[in-house]
Amino acid sequence: MEKQKYYITTAIAYTSGKPHIGNTYEVVLADAIARYKRQQGYDVFFQTGTDEHGQKIELKAEEAGITPKEFVDNVSGEIKRIWDLMNTSYDKFIRTTDEDHEKQVKKIFKKMYAKGDIYKGHYEGMYCTPCESFFTESQLVDGKCPDCGRECKPAKEEAYFFKISKYADRLLEYIEANPDFIQPVSRRNEMINFIKQGLEDLCISRTSFDWGIPVPIDEKHVIYVWFDALTNYLTPIGYLDDPEKFNKFWPADLHLVGKEIVRFHTIIWPIILMALDLPLPKKVYGHGWLVVDGDKMSKSKGNVIDPIGLIDEFGADAIRYFLLREINLGQDGNFSRDALISRINSDLANDLGNLLHRTLSMINKYNKGIIEQPGDIREVDQALINDATKTIAEYKNYMDNMKLSDSIKLVWSFISRTNKYIDETTPWVLGKDEARKAELNRVLYDLVESLRAISVMIEPFIPTTARRIWAQLNLPQNFDEIRISDIEGWGKTPVGIQINKPEQLFPRIE
Ligand code: MSP
Repeated sequence: MEKQKYYITTAIAYTSGKPHIGNTYEVVLADAIARYKRQQGYDVFFQTGTDEHGQKIELKAEEAGITPKEFVDNVSGEIKRIWDLMNTSYDKFIRTTDEDHEKQVKKIFKKMYAKGDIYKGHYEGMYCTPCESFFTESQLVDGKCPDCGRECKPAKEEAYFFKISKYADRLLEYIEANPDFIQPVSRRNEMINFIKQGLEDLCISRTSFDWGIPVPIDEKHVIYVWFDALTNYLTPIGYLDDPEKFNKFWPADLHLVGKEIVRFHTIIWPIILMALDLPLPKKVYGHGWLVVDGDKMSKSKGNVIDPIGLIDEFGADAIRYFLLREINLGQDGNFSRDALISRINSDLANDLGNLLHRTLSMINKYNKGIIEQPGDIREVDQALINDATKTIAEYKNYMDNMKLSDSIKLVWSFISRTNKYIDETTPWVLGKDEARKAELNRVLYDLVESLRAISVMIEPFIPTTARRIWAQLNLPQNFDEIRISDIEGWGKTPVGIQINKPEQLFPRIE
């Protein structure tokens, strides 16, 4: 049977500056979901990338005394490097300056123009340069940009418009008929209210600067950066070039975006798709923000946290763990160094690290490093096995519903429970009595089985650590081909394995 596909995307990051730790949250979140879907046997296509056009970038490049292309090459390279250091398993890193993307955007523009959904007119309004957005006077808040609070300037341009208004009713009907399309529900309600207030046609071209994709029928205009950026979701899967690939992956299963850009993804984007006669993505999820002591991260506040410094200091897995554990999807989560260190010490070094270390040391001490044939299952062992079975089922349920933080908590309570199993079964007592060898071997075997299940369940969150556990146990299966079904059913570890040398997973931080 052909594998089912799963197409997941992140927003593409602006290349106006280096990303901070908050930006990495989204790609780590998407990565965890992509990894879980792969374990479930889906043919996953995971896309991320960079959003590289617009006036802000043109200005930044000018300040830096380099061309916009040089500027975005640097920043995009840096973003990709951070995504790689965070160990994100994307299949495609798209840049909106990629030649095939630019070609695609022009084709899409032409197609919509030919259909009459794009027309030429005039734009008059208040313009916010950092946000690249026009507003009407009434949209301004205290005369300032409603999105970022900065100064707006009056501007008038000849421009191309996209007939958003034509599709407003259809969109509203769609959102109302498909309760899963926009999540969480609070965002969905916001969007419904927004559409009900009436949608105006959208200005989708600019003449006030050059750094953008030229309008294919009128080259003194460049295409509005959001129009260019949103279509990134179509380019790499072969829209208009490779129908087979395109029909396989479109519609996207999940667009993961920050809460502040849900509007672009659930109003402008679906209407572009309607104009192109394409089906809409199955789900747009607006996640919350990582804040620092309750405050938005920003250069002006001086509270920006650089991911590279943190990765150097603590390692990618520790940071991934923290982000995914600490932020409940859809809500904001707080970053603090103290909280990060305390999670590393208690959850990673203590709970998980000790469980592995104790297990490996006992196998070395009592059985010369060999995983031996276990004795019969006693009541105390059965209780552990039952808890493992329950944990795996609940884990799947949480993951299927994108409750990643809950599934982490669940796995960690199973880790504590397995540590408790050691205390309950007292292998150090069993080890002194030759007559109880079968019982001892049962305990050691069940510990290995628990760790095997744990390593598969934590792989989406802390993939390097999961592989290190697997390697130390010297389990025979290729971990990259592991499926969640491989941990369903107790007793799949073959006996006779010689374990590897124990190594500390996470040093304690003082
Ligand atoms: N370029 C646009 C997206 C275009 S998608 C077609 C953009 N870029 S961004 O760099 O500002 O943000 C990229 C993503 O990072 C957004 O989804 C945004 O919500 C997310 N985050 C930015 N700061 C964040 C935090 N502090 N915490 C969590 N996510 C954050 O918007």
